[in-house]
Formats: sequence, C-alpha cells, structure tokens
Amino acid sequence: MKVKNFFVAGIIASAMFLTGATTGFAASDQELCSKQRVNFLKIKMNNGLLPNDEFAPYNFKEVAGAAKEMIAVEAKRTHNDKTHAAISKMVTVHLAKIQEAAQAEAVGAVEVAGHALRFLELSCKACHKVYDTEKKNRKMSP
Ligand code: HEC
Repeated sequence: MKVKNFFVAGIIASAMFLTGATTGFAASDQELCSKQRVNFLKIKMNNGLLPNDEFAPYNFKEVAGAAKEMIAVEAKRTHNDKTHAAISKMVTVHLAKIQEAAQAEAVGAVEVAGHALRFLELSCKACHKVYDTEKKNRKMSP
C-alpha cells in the first residue's frame, strides 16, 4: 500500500471509530458507573445511622428513587463474561431490597436498607476488584 493510501485508510478508520463512539453502541462500565455513583452517594448519605436525627431525617423517597434508577442503569450493562453478569446481578438484588424497604417506609425499613447497603457496597467493590480497576480509581467511592 502506498503511503498516501495508508493515510486515507487511517482517516476513514478513525472517522468510523468516532461515529461509532458518539452514536454509541453499548454504554461502557465507566459511563454507567459514573451514573451509579451519584445515586449510590444519595443512599449512603441516608445510611441509617441517624434515623430520627432532626438534622438528617431519613429520606425514604430519595433512597427508594435512587435505588430504582440504579436498577435501571444496572440493567444496561453489557456482559462479556459470566462473572461480570453475576456481580451485576448481586448489585441489582441488593438494590431491590433497598428500594422495597424504603418504599414501604415500615418500621425497621432503615435497618433493612442499611444492611442491604453494606452488601451493595461490597458487590460494587467486587466488580472493581475483579476487573482490576480498584488501583486506577483510588479516589472513587466505593
Ligand atoms: C459488573 C461490574 C461492575 C459493577 C457491578 C460496578 N462497577 Fe463500577 N466500574 C466497573 C469498571 C470496569 C470500572 C472502570 C471503568 C474504566 O475505568 O474504564 C468502574 C468504575 C467505577 C467508577 C469510576 C468511574 C469513572 O468516572 O472513572 C465509579 C465511581 C464506580 N465504578 C462506581 C460503582 C458503584 C457505586 C457501583 C455499585 C452500585 C459499581 N460501580 C458497580 C465495573 C463495575
């Protein structure tokens, strides 16, 4: 291939890559996770440690709404292997428990949601550990 042809082929390939990236195939873990982060923090702020604190009352609606959105985002993950799918499913299970408890606003809901939150955090972390991103993302929470 002549140098010029090689150059043209390169431009075409980059253009295809760029349109692919912007028109979007599947969303990446990074994109989905940065959405998860926002709602995760909302739930974490309501960690159940101060259920009746007048300065930080437990916000059932916010927690239930955040969990619901997170379940929807989690469903958008695409999986290339079984481990990825399994961990994502664990995340969804814990989120469903949080949503259910917060929505019901029943006695003990704060504790149930708080308990599920601990497992949720571990499940998020499990995926980050497996895919070796923990090191890269030291500043992220979790
Ligand atoms: C199925 C695997 C998986 C699950 C489940 C998962 N993550 Fe991630 N997460 C990743 C991967 C992979 C990355 C690294 C993406 C990259 O850097 O390309 C990441 C990165 C992140 C980042 C950094 C994003 C950025 O902008 O760089 C945050 C924050 C994050 N995850 C939060 C969460 C939270 C909160 C949960 C649980 C609700 C969660 N993740 C669940 C795989 C997962």
